Amino acid sequence: MGPLASLEQWDDFVQERYQPDKKQEEFRQYDDATPPAVREFYRLNHTQQTVDFVRRKKRQYLAKDRGKMSIWEALEYLNTLVDESDPDTDLSQIEHNLQTAEAIRKDGHPRWFVLTGFIHDLGKLLCLYGEPQWAVVGDTFPVGCAYSDKIVFPEFFRENPDSKVPAYRTRLGVYSEGCGLDSVDLSWGHDEYLYHVVKDYLPEPGLNMIRYHSFYPAHREGAYGYLMNDRDREMFEWVRRFNPYDLYSKGAGRPKLSDLRPYYDGLIAEYFPDKIAW
Ligand SMILES: [Fe+2]
Ligand SMILES: [Fe+2]
Repeated sequence: MGPLASLEQWDDFVQERYQPDKKQEEFRQYDDATPPAVREFYRLNHTQQTVDFVRRKKRQYLAKDRGKMSIWEALEYLNTLVDESDPDTDLSQIEHNLQTAEAIRKDGHPRWFVLTGFIHDLGKLLCLYGEPQWAVVGDTFPVGCAYSDKIVFPEFFRENPDSKVPAYRTRLGVYSEGCGLDSVDLSWGHDEYLYHVVKDYLPEPGLNMIRYHSFYPAHREGAYGYLMNDRDREMFEWVRRFNPYDLYSKGAGRPKLSDLRPYYDGLIAEYFPDKIAW
């Protein structure tokens, strides 16, 4: 399916890169220490996420014609994605999602914020639809304009066919100054897919958290500000608020699904109809 032992291996790598106590000078030293499988994953991602690829995937998935499922059915389906060889965890996908949501709930955030945490990675279903890992996870970045050197492993972009297209090589590429992220194509993955599945149901800050949670070059590194508008900048406050829960809630004790089920049933029913289109 791909070089990574599991999709979590990418999550773990990001978490490691953004450890809170990490010093600035250590930050750029990840290259040598990175497991070969993770490097290879980024090489595949950075060489194959092109403008054409992203547009093709949008045509394929944004029609949402793969049938209807409830949020729980989607979670249970995602649970069938087993991590063959992730030694650090025997937690299921549902439990990972619960940890994120419970950490948000403990901090007293609004109910929609908890729900956003609970579902934010459901787009990883793409993997079960047969998409390769490099088209499901990975730090996202705009296609159709110059690659920021703030993106992890920028050297792998040299082999991307788009880097030979003059119209895509300038700072703005096919976009205009301050055009707003909604009109920017980001590399394809679980963020964008889930955003389109849930966009009619959640408040705008939650939708932004889902759509941009892997856009580390922007929300952690400050790149691509020139593509954003004022609304994006406002919304990115929420994206940044969400990020620590995504990165650091993993270690927090094993959540007990049976105890929590009534709360999450109520929460889901408050925002979603029985079944939604995927
Ligand atoms: Fe994610
Ligand atoms: Fe996540």
